[in-house]
Amino acid sequence: MRSSKVRVTIYRDPDTLAHAAADLFRAAAASATARADRFTVALSGGTTPGRFYSLLGSAAYAGEIDWSKVQVFWTDERCVPPDHHESNYKLASFSFLSKVPLPFKNIHRIRGEEGPERAAHMYAIDIRAFFQQDPFPEFDLIVLGVGRDGHTASLFPGDAAVDERVRPAAAVRRQPPDHDRVTLTLPVLAQAREVVVLASGRSKASVVREIVEDGNPKAYPAGLVRPAYGTLHWLLDEEAAGGLSVGTRPKPE
Ligand code: 6PG
Repeated sequence: MRSSKVRVTIYRDPDTLAHAAADLFRAAAASATARADRFTVALSGGTTPGRFYSLLGSAAYAGEIDWSKVQVFWTDERCVPPDHHESNYKLASFSFLSKVPLPFKNIHRIRGEEGPERAAHMYAIDIRAFFQQDPFPEFDLIVLGVGRDGHTASLFPGDAAVDERVRPAAAVRRQPPDHDRVTLTLPVLAQAREVVVLASGRSKASVVREIVEDGNPKAYPAGLVRPAYGTLHWLLDEEAAGGLSVGTRPKPE
């Protein structure tokens, strides 16, 4: 019986953090492929994972992953076309998906251009058809970031999607200049074998401390992410970890 674990690791700078995330992705892919002959991963957007995603498409990592076994999903998406500069699909596609031999059929894009409700419904159908697991899919790895307000994926404080406990994906209405969105829901995040939350920069230090160490994590959607029996990794750089008394620092190589 697996038990839930939370690991907080602090890296000296954003580049070391990105390499740690790429190493974790590579290890999770190898483990899942050996165990189940596939690796299911859901990717976030935002700025933090950009360097990590670029590493996955680089010579240092691309050849170390059996991309034919990788099934790529998203944790959330904006309701914009896939070529829009704010599309999370475009971020991943530009950063690494277009550079690795991943079969097109292994890309499970959230069709945000259909509008939030229809896109969420279509995504839920795709998830259920692929995983054939009820009531919720078990992703091998879910990659998350955290906003300064404590949101994660597109689960924003006070939004109804945070309380969704039946559907695997939900529509999120946002005010301009933001876009409506689609997000995986908390039961899916809880079902994952591994969840990694990436946080970088001084602007995240306060919310990270509130969630990881003190305060009331339940005030923030990112604080509600607790794998039922998987492992939750918080990968931080020193700035985002400012003031934390918990967490380990890997020995410099
Ligand atoms: C998105 C992400 C979102 C992101 C946070 C942090 O679609 O934007 O899924 O949840 O992880 O907003 O974003 P930064 O990495 O840019 O700080």
